[in-house]
Amino acid sequence: MAEVKLLSVTKKFGNVTAVDDLTLEIKDGEFFVLLGPSGCGKTTTLRVIAGLEEPTAGEIYIGDTLVASPEKDIFIPPKDRDVAMVFQNYALYPHMTVYENIAFPLKIRKVPEEEIRKRVKEVAELLGIEELLHRKPRELSGGQRQRVALGRAIIRHPRVFLMDEPLSNLDAKLRVRMRSELKKLQRALGVTTIYVTHDQVEAMTMGDRIAILNDGKLQQVGTPDDVYNKPRNLFVAGFIGSPPMNFLDATLVERDRGIWVDFGEFMLKLPEEMADIVRSERYIGKEVIFGIRPEDIYDALFAQVKIPGENMVRGKIEIVEPLGNVNIVHFSVGDVHFTGQFSRDSKVREGMEMDIVFDMTKAHVFDKESGEAIF
Ligand SMILES: Nc1ncnc2c1ncn2[C@@H]1O[C@H](COP(=O)(O)OP(=O)(O)OP(=O)(O)O)[C@@H](O)[C@H]1O
Ligand SMILES: [Mg+2]
Repeated sequence: MAEVKLLSVTKKFGNVTAVDDLTLEIKDGEFFVLLGPSGCGKTTTLRVIAGLEEPTAGEIYIGDTLVASPEKDIFIPPKDRDVAMVFQNYALYPHMTVYENIAFPLKIRKVPEEEIRKRVKEVAELLGIEELLHRKPRELSGGQRQRVALGRAIIRHPRVFLMDEPLSNLDAKLRVRMRSELKKLQRALGVTTIYVTHDQVEAMTMGDRIAILNDGKLQQVGTPDDVYNKPRNLFVAGFIGSPPMNFLDATLVERDRGIWVDFGEFMLKLPEEMADIVRSERYIGKEVIFGIRPEDIYDALFAQVKIPGENMVRGKIEIVEPLGNVNIVHFSVGDVHFTGQFSRDSKVREGMEMDIVFDMTKAHVFDKESGEAIF
């Protein structure tokens, strides 16, 4: 087991910067998720940690060992880094049985046969695939194959697991089950794990902490709760959460000693703590981006606190998407459009006008130029 540290790591391919000045400190035993859209540099980050790519600049530590530093001319090859990687497109050896596939990493290290037998048995039990050991990969389901690939990675007791979208080939239901199994497995083994995904639900449910990347650059690192409730910028706020956060152009104005979010057609009042930040950061009179998550917008009949003219407005319902457990509601207030997530008991119908309440304690406001969160 070990911690993993990246200090200002950059990786360029010609004139493409895949990883841009990335600094991360992953704790010993942590389940750490790298999350971001396609092409943001997740796989490249794993590959430089594994030693399959050399960084262009920066330093990488595994435990106390400096494993890569172009400045100091240090590069420890993958086989000496004691990490195990499960690839995005994992491949099992088709001509080998499950047993032979899992045993393979020990076999090439010339571990004695007796020891190999014992370890394969342990791993197979852990993954619930004892009955499959004599089969060939083609005789397995996708989920079973996935487990064999994991078995092959964990049999070595490496210091670090690197997993690149290991569940992406599975159907939705199996993915949900494997998510919790994998998490349990990681807890049981206690091995530092860096897990790559572009699926925010996977990241939120599995990660102790999540690093969100965009365009090779780190956007935010934090617990699932942090990145959801305190997104640091527009990118993180928009990437995490489904349906996504509403973003609207607005101006912050002072009236009757309160601070209001002015949408032109109507205004919403900010709670006093937020108003204080607006004053101290000098945002009065400025254009900003207002953000609120759909679940923080209510059918007024189901709202705890409703103050007409402060957090309650009259909206026209355009489209209702009943999902069973909730209703996703698209509505407008004048020319301003929002998406809300109402209780399944809400009697909302398309075309109706109704009172709608915004939980302004959950509001977010972003600087229009930088995209950084003001709160
Ligand atoms: N060997 C390479 N040569 C040139 N460019 C590369 C190479 N590998 C990756 N890139 C580029 O670097 C960027 C990051 O790629 P990377 O594979 O790390 O993204 P990713 O976040 O894993 O994406 P995905 O979610 O699609 O797997 C992309 O623009 C990609 O085209
Ligand atoms: Mg990738």
